[in-house]
Amino acid sequence: MSLAESIPKKLQTNIDNIIDNVSPNPWLTDAEKISYTDKIKVLLKQKDAVVIAHYYVDDELQALAEETGGYVSDSLDMANFGAQHEAKTLVVCGVRFMGETAKILSPEKTVLMPTLDAECSLDLGCPIDEFSRFCDEHPDREVVVYANTSVEVKARADWIVTSSNAIQIIENLMSQGKKIIWGPDRHLGQYIKNKTGADMILWQGHCVVHDEFKLHELEQLMEKHPDAEVLVHPESPEAVIAKADFVGSTKQIIAAGKASPADTLIIATDHGLFYKMSQVVPEKRLIPAPTGGKSASCKSCAHCPWMAMNTLGNLYETLRDMNNTIEVDEQIRQQALKPLNRMIDFSFQQGILTAGDA
Ligand code: 13P
Ligand code: SF4
Repeated sequence: MSLAESIPKKLQTNIDNIIDNVSPNPWLTDAEKISYTDKIKVLLKQKDAVVIAHYYVDDELQALAEETGGYVSDSLDMANFGAQHEAKTLVVCGVRFMGETAKILSPEKTVLMPTLDAECSLDLGCPIDEFSRFCDEHPDREVVVYANTSVEVKARADWIVTSSNAIQIIENLMSQGKKIIWGPDRHLGQYIKNKTGADMILWQGHCVVHDEFKLHELEQLMEKHPDAEVLVHPESPEAVIAKADFVGSTKQIIAAGKASPADTLIIATDHGLFYKMSQVVPEKRLIPAPTGGKSASCKSCAHCPWMAMNTLGNLYETLRDMNNTIEVDEQIRQQALKPLNRMIDFSFQQGILTAGDA
């Protein structure tokens, strides 16, 4: 068995342990929500801080980010916004790799997260030692990694990509005759391979949320709603992607929903996205793609357990105490900065990022 084939089982045990230990998002009364929100607004001003949130975190956090001059977006935009913003402190509501990316790009800023336990199954499933050995086995290949990785894995990479720019970056490498090592998401890797025909060897990681979308149940839903358009995040299984009218990053899914002539949209991504999507297309019917049905597990709720660990309560405490800071070893940071800057420069050149995004 090759190294890549041996990883999923070990990984799954690791992920199951972590998910079983994630504490539930505490319920807050409306009065408590208002009280936390008011206190956070004062602290943001006092501490010269700005909130940068991902679409998958709780609605209240997304609303707070927008009301206070912060930002809600996909992982590429979040990275760019943090680097461009003049605030001394960036409060990243999302998962650890997003906080680390902000710190790699802005070492002079304080980067806080409401909790440092918010991980990502792709990052956890791609430990640097094993990934590095995998790369060493194929020295003739360009190492391309998804942003959902540790700072050490980023430092080992030639290129970093997100779902927003992965196709264009791989096409660019193909045009230079490069062969590729891809990690960690096997579904995104397979999607890019199918789409571009690139010579790619795939690490076998997966996202515990998107991996759960079910083909059979999706087909049944599509039969019930024959005019619906199906929008899919590329971390979903190949068979689910094959049913999509549109495949893209979270931000691209929202844009595709807006541009779509369909009255009904079936959406295969974390349900946190429905908050923004329903603001952008209030007239449309939004239906979550099914995660239940045959072979479904109790974790099939289409919501990232780590994103759910960000709450108004721990955001308030973090800002009050100025703790949960992201720290990155300087030497590794400088190595990771090269492929990260490469990705951001490329994204500006291709118009995937524009000055208006920051
Ligand atoms: P996006 O870059 O599309 O926001 O995806 C990040 C992520 O973690 C999706 O699961
Ligand atoms: Fe990672 Fe999946 Fe959660 Fe995104 S949704 S942060 S890929 S575990």
